[in-house]
Amino acid sequence: MNDAVNPLENFDDGTLDRAFRALAAEVTADAASMDTEAFRLHWLGRKQGRLKLISESWLKSAPPDARKPLGIRFNQLKQQIEAALESPAAEPASQTRGLDITLPGLVRAPGIPHPLLKTMQEIVDVFHNLGYSTSTGPEVETDFYNFEALNFPPNHPARDTQDTLIIANQQGRPARDRLLMRTHTSPVQIRTMIAQPPPVRIVIPGKVHRNDAADATHSPIFHQIEGLCVDTDITFSDLKGTLDHAMKALFGSSVKTRFFPSFFPFTEPSADVQISCIFCNGKGCRKCKHSGWIELLGCGMVDPAVFAAVTEQRALAGETIPAYDPAKISGFAFGMGVERIAMMQYGISDIGHFYSGDMRFLEQFA
Ligand code: DAH
Repeated sequence: MNDAVNPLENFDDGTLDRAFRALAAEVTADAASMDTEAFRLHWLGRKQGRLKLISESWLKSAPPDARKPLGIRFNQLKQQIEAALESPAAEPASQTRGLDITLPGLVRAPGIPHPLLKTMQEIVDVFHNLGYSTSTGPEVETDFYNFEALNFPPNHPARDTQDTLIIANQQGRPARDRLLMRTHTSPVQIRTMIAQPPPVRIVIPGKVHRNDAADATHSPIFHQIEGLCVDTDITFSDLKGTLDHAMKALFGSSVKTRFFPSFFPFTEPSADVQISCIFCNGKGCRKCKHSGWIELLGCGMVDPAVFAAVTEQRALAGETIPAYDPAKISGFAFGMGVERIAMMQYGISDIGHFYSGDMRFLEQFA
């Protein structure tokens, strides 16, 4: 509480602002510390109220053109005092209302994982249960990790299938150091093998980018889960058994898998994996284009050229006996699209739903 009324030396805007800021702070402090009635009398009392004393003193000495700015500020101060009188903060503890336990409670909606993250976690969990761990890598990647080390030679037509988004203005850099948005999660295979010797059993969930037009089944940004297993005596049978188990774990034990020859620069042989149509149990329907099968992911045995690229980098770091010698070790890799799997699991026909942020869609996964 402060009863002194100091005259104003000056009436320019800066001085007025400073003086009224000090008064506003005084009101706030008094509202917190004083009893409501005492606060009201102290500030708004008709004869000795502080507001009245101050306004009389200052208005009397004010030049005519300072009256208006002063008046506006006094009005604001008065509003602050009145608001403090109405708000609970001005109410001393002795007057606070009791807690009414019969009122309905406030229900706070718990957050839920986004359906894409949920599917991603489910897939990762299937592999964690097989002893795999998780690796991640950057979304802005170099040409070396995204292409070259994965056996996509410069200017090779296989690069065209990836619709790469390139970071601008890098003509000055060597081709392998040029930056791009990673088009797949496969570069993390290379990063992991350069960093650690076999055995490797990892899954790599993450976001990837392609210069694709958005439609019902495509999005320029989507998610993949990559897998890599490298050890002694890893065979194509291990690959088939692992993926067959994973598909059954994700879509139910009656699902069948089949493997078709395919091509990826970083695997040899390569295969596309199809699962029996989960909508018609393989009988043939619109969803599987009446074939009874749905193509779901790519895979293959790690190409020796990939091991060679890894070995070159490890040698630069001082390795003398190559840990990734294709004569001693072998491995398999696979990659799948998370959106595609989530769309199948939930019967979603438009990929755009995942990114729209529409609560009516998202709440269905609570
Ligand atoms: N990186 C491939 C793509 O985005 C998917 C893929 C296919 C990953 C085969 C693999 C693999 O690891 O072995 O199209």
